Amino acid sequence: MEEKLLMVKEKLEKYGQEHLLNFYETLSENKKNQLLDELLTMDFKQLQDLYNSTKTQPNYEGAKIEPISHVSKEELSEEELEKYTTIGEEEIKNGKLAVVTMAGGQGTRLGHSGPKGTYDIGLASHKSIFEILCDNFKLAREKYGVVIPWYLMTSDENHEETVAFFEKNNYFGYPKEAVQFFKQGTLPMINTNGKVLLDEERMPKLAPDGHGGVFEAMRKNGVIYSMQEKGIEWVFIGGVDNVLVKPIDPVLTGLATEKNMLVACKSLVKANPQEKVGVFCKKDGRPNVIEYIEISEEMANAKDENGQLLYGEAHILCNQFNIKILEELANNKLPYHAAFKKASYTNENGEVIKPEEPNAYKFESFLFDAFSLIPDMLVLRVKREEEFAPVKNATGVDSPETARNLYNNFHHLN
Ligand code: UD1
Repeated sequence: MEEKLLMVKEKLEKYGQEHLLNFYETLSENKKNQLLDELLTMDFKQLQDLYNSTKTQPNYEGAKIEPISHVSKEELSEEELEKYTTIGEEEIKNGKLAVVTMAGGQGTRLGHSGPKGTYDIGLASHKSIFEILCDNFKLAREKYGVVIPWYLMTSDENHEETVAFFEKNNYFGYPKEAVQFFKQGTLPMINTNGKVLLDEERMPKLAPDGHGGVFEAMRKNGVIYSMQEKGIEWVFIGGVDNVLVKPIDPVLTGLATEKNMLVACKSLVKANPQEKVGVFCKKDGRPNVIEYIEISEEMANAKDENGQLLYGEAHILCNQFNIKILEELANNKLPYHAAFKKASYTNENGEVIKPEEPNAYKFESFLFDAFSLIPDMLVLRVKREEEFAPVKNATGVDSPETARNLYNNFHHLN
């Protein structure tokens, strides 16, 4: 232990992070050990680089940004629609589709303390978001006679609660063997001086490192392997917070199969320049999404010759990948984006501070940054009222109330 402590001290001194041992003596033997192990493996060089990156804005200047072409589902002819549906249904019936739901986020904006999927948006049935998502799988089982494997990505902070929720609810009547959980990675949070924060327990404050880590987490946790073993060809990867998500969609799968596209994503028309959605585009000839926190005012407002938003193809985190490309994506490190957030921490006097204003950087990689590794992909524009009812904020736009109304309208439950 003494030796380990000395090694850690040396490492911390090198990177100016000595404060992480300030309360070492107050910890239990177990926690002491855990702390030393965490600090030994922590990549402070990476954190230093990430801290430096917070001083510059992501810059799209110099890059060639262009709108991306899309296929509009509404504009497909009846024959086309039928053709793609048949091809997609065949893939689904043959057990070629699996679904990953990314549920590792913190859901801070919603103000719900548990995993977001456990939230009850106030439907008459009082189904949780997880149960609403599970309905898609149960319907597909009835319709196609196949049990589609469902993988859920959790994080350190909500893994146990998520699994317990599924257990308590008997997997909502879906076969337990078809559901598998895996954890995403974490990264320490740092303050405006680049120092790693200590959490309430006086340990380094860790946060989920964004859903861009999904590919790596799938590889590390044997998910890609498990899919390969099952003969899976297509993997739909989506977020947890859209109660109208259509993860099992023969049209999307059929189109991707027919057009031989390794990646097929859904989009919809951005409601207004300020809507908090990423937009599809091409960057230096490659598919890309520019996130709403990073888009310039000018780009967000630019119009085409028909008066439509030039970058108006909204990304809704409904993306389908061919299994062949997943391994490759898993071996690539995606860039991190910094977000300035409110984060409680233990200060130098050992007091827990709950800040009113943002005080710390959290680093996240975004799944869609992987798109630029792919030469071409398909963007399928779908209808908002049929496929998008996000639950993001406690009130106002994208809240349980708006999602509930959209869900009830779509399912004629009013
Ligand atoms: C996201 C998209 C945005 C899109 C919008 C549509 C990102 C970064 N942006 O915005 O382009 O237009 O949805 O609704 O995704 N998650 C994890 N682990 C993490 C972080 C997030 O699993 O570390 C999951 C969340 O549980 C959630 C999803 O990813 O299901 C979206 O995350 P969030 O950070 O809330 O993105 P939005 O700002 O809503």
